[in-house]
Amino acid sequence: MSEPPVPIVGGTGKLGYGLAVRLAAAGVPVRIGSRRAESATDAAERVRDVVDDADVDGAANAECVGGAPLVLMTVPFDAQAATLKDLEEALQPGQIVVDTTVPVAATMGGKPTRMLGVPQGSAAEQAQELVPDGVRVVSAFHTVSADELGDLEVELDEDVLVCGDDREAKQALAALVDRVPGLRPVNAGRLESSRLVEGLTPLLIGINIRHRVSAGVRITGLSESRW
Ligand SMILES: NC(=O)c1ccc[n+]([C@@H]2O[C@H](COP(=O)([O-])OP(=O)(O)OC[C@H]3O[C@@H](n4cnc5c(N)ncnc54)[C@H](OP(=O)(O)O)[C@@H]3O)[C@@H](O)[C@H]2O)c1
Repeated sequence: MSEPPVPIVGGTGKLGYGLAVRLAAAGVPVRIGSRRAESATDAAERVRDVVDDADVDGAANAECVGGAPLVLMTVPFDAQAATLKDLEEALQPGQIVVDTTVPVAATMGGKPTRMLGVPQGSAAEQAQELVPDGVRVVSAFHTVSADELGDLEVELDEDVLVCGDDREAKQALAALVDRVPGLRPVNAGRLESSRLVEGLTPLLIGINIRHRVSAGVRITGLSESRW
């Protein structure tokens, strides 16, 4: 049986494109989602332009998540709640939603080096509150630069910190991350730890601006991540 595509809700944006490019280059089938199906199919074409033989297509967000074991979601913080509301009927118990949201103040007109407070503790915990019962949220990719992902000339060499309350869900995402050369998934703890990981992004943005780099995260002293 052929492998089901990995949906990327909001995959028309910067991080979604980067993830789609790297996953497609690793031979993973991808389905890009958008509020407008036409934008999704355009985005899929952009991925096929840079990845030979990419198995990528596009569809409206709600259409693309149906039946997928694991769904990536790459939308800005101010769009997270509305996006999950739109997916209310489409998401089913047992599915995994990988939230990449960082509540940077820039989404509300503030500085990209500052965080917004989230009443639930983190964007990921807000997502868990908004998905239908039985859908498991894990969070990841906060510290990975979309530009670096989207440029196949760049050799990746960094960790992806993964938070979540369900071990099996974290392992499912780790298996996907492992397929991308240069990315290593690291178990960063429960979903409540996502607040700390999300907070690394504004820190990295500040470092990037100051040093004109695209910094990522590497956990030292860890030969193998335990799940
Ligand atoms: N950029 C990075 O380097 C990076 C790295 C790590 C984590 N992140 C996080 O990943 C998420 C996505 O970042 P990004 O840079 O890819 O964002 P983006 O390009 O600004 O937006 C991604 C997609 O979200 C959808 N969207 C935008 N505004 C929306 C709204 N008001 N309502 C519903 N959907 C909306 C759009 O898709 P459609 O119009 O096609 O529906 C858009 O293409 C953010 O939460 C960010 O904090 C980003």
